[in-house]
Amino acid sequence: MTEANLSAAAIKILETASAEQKARLGRDIAAQWRGATRRTVGHARPPNRPARPDTPRLRPPREVPRRKIGTGPEGRIALLHALAHIELNAVDLAWDIIARFGDQALPEAFFDDWVRIADEESKHFLLLSERLEVLGSHYGALPAHDGLWQASEATADNLLARLAVVPMVLEARGLDVTPDMIRKLKAADDRRSAEILELIYQEEIGHVAVGRKWFEWLCAQKDLKPVDTWQDLVSRYFRGPLKPPFNEEGRALAGFPSCYYAPLVTPA
Ligand SMILES: [Fe+2]
Ligand SMILES: [Fe+2]
Repeated sequence: MTEANLSAAAIKILETASAEQKARLGRDIAAQWRGATRRTVGHARPPNRPARPDTPRLRPPREVPRRKIGTGPEGRIALLHALAHIELNAVDLAWDIIARFGDQALPEAFFDDWVRIADEESKHFLLLSERLEVLGSHYGALPAHDGLWQASEATADNLLARLAVVPMVLEARGLDVTPDMIRKLKAADDRRSAEILELIYQEEIGHVAVGRKWFEWLCAQKDLKPVDTWQDLVSRYFRGPLKPPFNEEGRALAGFPSCYYAPLVTPA
């Protein structure tokens, strides 16, 4: 492909209902963007909610099966299913940010970064859904959490708030909880699942780093202090507390120091 219009392609992905097709189309578009000689980002209004398959049924969190890793495969399947669902949301979130904020004066490197993230989220989803099939299940077999798109809706009109909440709260939270999941999968002797989560963990450090980098870039453009601005936006746009313990080491690898988040923790 010699020409790419990124926003139009992003909308096509958001409007694809099949999870696997959505993920695969995203990977194709990312490859086309990398290879395109003429690139336009454009701007398009993404759907309020992206198209999704009929299953999994979306339920309130308390009705979603618990993800306890025990001796049988059920707990691992529930864990991998929940993670696949998070990754599918992450695919849509990455394409949404590209289309929705394409009208703002952002350097092309911003879009390169988010296309790479979108591509990696597709890879994560596909790895997890293939693993579910090997374990005798599939994505869609269990109910899934309904609340994940809420952060996107809350920050639909504010790129700075989107960056503060999605990569720097939600994806950073992923860095906090993943090492323990990897340990438990290894203890259950599920080495392949542990290997997949290790790859996801490494790439998610990069996603937090990209979010933090562009958050700070935008703050500099607007002459705002990044730490104060982040704390203000998180308290306005993120429902719920920031939960310690934090993986300070993983967060530091993403260039995300505790002076951002430690002051927002309410003492128990
Ligand atoms: Fe991911
Ligand atoms: Fe991510």
